[in-house]
Amino acid sequence: MPKWSVDTCQLLELPRVNDRRGNLTFIENSNQIPFDIKRVYYLYDIPGGSDRGAHAHKNLHQFVVAMSGSFDIELDDGVKKKKFHLNRSYYGLYVCPMMWRSLDNFSSGAVCMVLASDIYSEDDYIRSYREFQNIKG
Ligand code: TYD
Repeated sequence: MPKWSVDTCQLLELPRVNDRRGNLTFIENSNQIPFDIKRVYYLYDIPGGSDRGAHAHKNLHQFVVAMSGSFDIELDDGVKKKKFHLNRSYYGLYVCPMMWRSLDNFSSGAVCMVLASDIYSEDDYIRSYREFQNIKG
């Protein structure tokens, strides 16, 4: 398994078509993000004070966008941590495999959209931080 680093994860700015009628942003397979999209899911109706995430994925690549509102994501590669604040729908955070992620500080009305490189598989999850550290070595 490659040694993934938190430095591989970056905030990426997406194209914007500004218009008086409202702005438009698009994301195409591999063009704006470094993987092909196989799944889209989103978190919404998030009660204040909620924490999400607290797991890592063995092989999944993800791209996280605050479609509305704002929230924080902390990424941890087992050695180094980085915190990001997402609050614009024309920015997204690329999250490579083997990143322990924690999401919190959701604003009211926040919608967190996640583009993923594969369909849902519980086998791809690492839900214990100790197991994550053991696998990272
Ligand atoms: P989970 O990934 O643990 O949520 P989060 O990291 O956002 O806190 O998923 C929560 C539940 O939803 C879990 O029972 C699995 C299920 N789920 C699916 O069925 N399909 C999906 O695409 C995702 C992301 C989760």
